[in-house]
Amino acid sequence: MLEIGCGTGELQRRVLAAGAGSAVGIDVAAGMIERARTAADREGLLERATFLVGDAVERAAELQPAALVVLDKVLCCYPEIDHLLAMSLQRAQRLYSVVVPRPHWLVAAVWKVAIAVFRLLGSTFHPFYHDWHRTAASISAAGFRRIFAAHTLAWEAWIYRRSN
Ligand SMILES: C[S@@+](CC[C@H](N)C(=O)[O-])C[C@H]1O[C@@H](n2cnc3c(N)ncnc32)[C@H](O)[C@@H]1O
Repeated sequence: MLEIGCGTGELQRRVLAAGAGSAVGIDVAAGMIERARTAADREGLLERATFLVGDAVERAAELQPAALVVLDKVLCCYPEIDHLLAMSLQRAQRLYSVVVPRPHWLVAAVWKVAIAVFRLLGSTFHPFYHDWHRTAASISAAGFRRIFAAHTLAWEAWIYRRSN
């Protein structure tokens, strides 16, 4: 498994605990990776886990293909997602999963207000609301078929299987 924007690595730990051979997580936030490493060590999973600090696009050359590639609430942290999408899709050998803000007019409106407020307050945190239908079309165009979709009020999860 390869998780881009793994945060504190909770998903990786679950996948490893369920029997995955190895999991690589990369996150641009060093503090998150430190917490991920500590938690994996505490749970006896560190031998099968690799953690990298950095921007996944900049460190793409170090990211090997994996059976499963996950971007859980990450595309909305990135201003320009085409590269991140293409790079991560290339590395997904079988399954590809993303969690994105729900493509719904009400969710879009809330995000746009939140984005404006963050900018007005001069926050260093910059969320982005992209055209998620276009994102889904790009994933399909890369040769993936959606096999699962579910949503909460605010988020939507998609799982794809490589069909080519
Ligand atoms: C909303 S958090 C989600 C964390 C985790 N996936 C989860 O669901 O708990 C987004 C994470 O993506 C990371 N991130 C954003 N852009 C990134 C990039 N280009 N490369 C690596 N990590 C990135 C952020 O540092 C942050 O930890």
